[in-house]
Amino acid sequence: MAVTINTLRERKNNGETFSVLTAYDATFAQVVSEAGVDVILIGDSLGMVLQGHDSTLPVTVDDMCYHTRAVARGNRGALIMADLPFLSYGTIPQALDNAAALMRAGAHMVKLEGTDWMADTIHALSERGIPVCAHLGLTPQFVNKLGGYKVQGRDERQAELMIEHAGMLEKAGADIILLECVPNQLAARITQAAKAPVIGIGAGRDTDGQVLVLHDMLGVTPGRRPKFVKDFLTEGGSIEGAIKAYVSAVRERRFPAEEHMFKA
Ligand code: KIV
Repeated sequence: MAVTINTLRERKNNGETFSVLTAYDATFAQVVSEAGVDVILIGDSLGMVLQGHDSTLPVTVDDMCYHTRAVARGNRGALIMADLPFLSYGTIPQALDNAAALMRAGAHMVKLEGTDWMADTIHALSERGIPVCAHLGLTPQFVNKLGGYKVQGRDERQAELMIEHAGMLEKAGADIILLECVPNQLAARITQAAKAPVIGIGAGRDTDGQVLVLHDMLGVTPGRRPKFVKDFLTEGGSIEGAIKAYVSAVRERRFPAEEHMFKA
């Protein structure tokens, strides 16, 4: 049975988790989906892990469409989420055109980064049949505004603002919220308040789903491995074994462990 947005809502309502992993080509899309991963994310992280850039900013809509087409060909039943890359959704017409290109390439939903000011864009996409995941917390496309890749929402004022923004974006039509690098207590509060499923990366183990970048969990991250990443290849013994170990660890809430979490 193919995974849909309804599957993820049901999981949340039943208190069950789901797993998300990035993949960027047909071969890995097949391996990842056959190993039981529920959602494949064609992340603009491909700018770093495939293209060798030091940020996601150089990634284009054409790059994302190329990789989405490849993933769609290899996928065996996972929900496919594709990132709208940097400045491809600066205006509503731009967002509609570029989201349509990703959906035509095979995505089932798009992900975008931003806070309260994204509400109108999310509403426009959602009203026109494009499911949206709203990415909050550490938003890598904003690395130059954030002054680096830093944990977000550590102080109470920032935390309250993130809770408010998550609520606004859900109300605007976001079907999924994704939280990156936020203290686990804050992620738990947002997850409890939201009706939509919440996915976390570096956000503790109380979110409804977990996501990792494939290269990170296979231990081939260029540079220093982030705190929230676990190398599952060592545990799984093979690529397929690593992905299955990740799926089980997420399902049983063994991952993330204390050492992968951020405190306020
Ligand atoms: O681009 C990406 O892979 C992402 C994940 C880090 C969530 O956005």
